[in-house]
Amino acid sequence: MKKMLTKPVMAILIGSALLGGMASAHSESTGNAEADFRIAEMKKLGMNMGAIAKVAKGEMSYSDSLNDNAAQIAEIAANMPKLYPEGSGVEASRAKPEIWTQPDEFQKDIEDFQAAATQLVAAVKTGDQAMIGAALKETGGTCGACHKQFRKPKQ
Ligand code: HEC
Repeated sequence: MKKMLTKPVMAILIGSALLGGMASAHSESTGNAEADFRIAEMKKLGMNMGAIAKVAKGEMSYSDSLNDNAAQIAEIAANMPKLYPEGSGVEASRAKPEIWTQPDEFQKDIEDFQAAATQLVAAVKTGDQAMIGAALKETGGTCGACHKQFRKPKQ
């Protein structure tokens, strides 16, 4: 099971899900409170995924607080449909207009993410490093899938 934790795998995971946004995190407001809130929630996702990734990579040892990280991801996943009110795709936001013009496809990406987040919660509960790594990779894949389709490149 060590395979789950090889560098290329983690690099893909981190590259697609985390660094893509965190390296250039917004520091200023988009001018739209709903977009700002969405971005703040996304940053929380990034931080919680990062905490779990440290354990999956063996850089940190497992502790119970990892369950809080997983729970927060699942909570944001559950709330995700509410993060995209009509009109919040403002200029400074990286939310693509397709979020609102292709709602069915967007909804599917949300559901994939929610399903993966539920499994991540269960995997973290086991405390098993390999299982956590596998579930993290799965979840990171759903972050990346949505970003690829529905997030504008960095401005
Ligand atoms: C259903 C679609 C979707 C899913 C799932 C999703 N995101 Fe996002 N994410 C977006 C969109 C859209 C933006 C751009 C938001 C904006 O700028 O208004 C974004 C932005 C971000 C940002 C950049 C925030 C900033 O500083 O500008 C980060 C970091 C991020 N997401 C992390 C994650 C992580 C980690 C996951 C999975 C655990 C995830 N996202 C899941 C759609 C999604």
